[in-house]
Amino acid sequence: MLLEIRNASRFFGQKAAVDRVSFGIERPGFIGIIGRSGAGKSTLLRMINRLTETSEGEIRFEGQNVLTLRGAAMRAWQSRCAMIFQQFNLVPRLDVAANVLHGTLNRRSTLATMFNLWPEADVLKALAILDRLGVAEQAVKRAEALSGGQQQRVAIARALMQEPKVILADEPIASLDPMNAQIVMDTLRRIHDEDGITVIANLHTLDTARRYCDRVIGMRDGRVVFDGLPSELSRGVARDIYGADASFSEEATSTSLEHLGTERDAAFAAKMLA
Ligand SMILES: Nc1ncnc2c1ncn2[C@@H]1O[C@H](COP(=O)(O)OP(=O)(O)O)[C@@H](O)[C@H]1O
Ligand SMILES: [Mg+2]
Repeated sequence: MLLEIRNASRFFGQKAAVDRVSFGIERPGFIGIIGRSGAGKSTLLRMINRLTETSEGEIRFEGQNVLTLRGAAMRAWQSRCAMIFQQFNLVPRLDVAANVLHGTLNRRSTLATMFNLWPEADVLKALAILDRLGVAEQAVKRAEALSGGQQQRVAIARALMQEPKVILADEPIASLDPMNAQIVMDTLRRIHDEDGITVIANLHTLDTARRYCDRVIGMRDGRVVFDGLPSELSRGVARDIYGADASFSEEATSTSLEHLGTERDAAFAAKMLA
């Protein structure tokens, strides 16, 4: 088992933001977590990465309980499961290459970092990764000068610099226009396909989950209410995940749902007629 989450909960006061979540990932995969705002998606990713403490339960990676790791061992785990955020979280005034080199920070001295002294091998590696993601020509620009889509690719480059086993992406395309959203999702998918890195991405639209993921986990009120193949995301399942009330009509989701509904209904009708 690569990653195993067993009965994991996180309480904020009385409220369980993540409520007895269990699932296992047996081999490298591209997994989408969907659910409406407040469902517990971000909290779950942060628990895996140890940015948020888990109140109860277990999270194991390759058999090791990551929740008991301390100090250097915890930081090593954190760099093996690199995070990507909706708002990119780059250092805006720093150039792109330096932002990517920050991915090696956990193994560098403070002094070398202060003076921006990077080993040549790391610099070459950073440039190679930027080149692979199609943003090498931006290397000497300040991060803030780049478009959102370019910034997110730089954030992915920074993550790759850590040579992670897992990439945890928290709504990686929620701030991007459709074209850049596609570029970023294609990039994540390619990294999974070519490097065998497991990607767990919180996604706010169904159509993205269906298009890119091998497996989709649906959360509602902190709990897993669906865990299966994208093709199993019927309209009824979507309703379970998103609820049938007002927030169900969230623009992006309902657009994709309409599409989903039509497609499903057609498949259903075909089956009934057969
Ligand atoms: N630091 C926090 N303090 C208190 N409540 C929090 C905190 N972080 C998240 N929550 C609550 O936990 C629930 C799940 O939040 P979150 O994981 O951000 O959901 P999602 O990412 O699916 O939108 C929400 O009700 C949210 O208000
Ligand atoms: Mg969130």
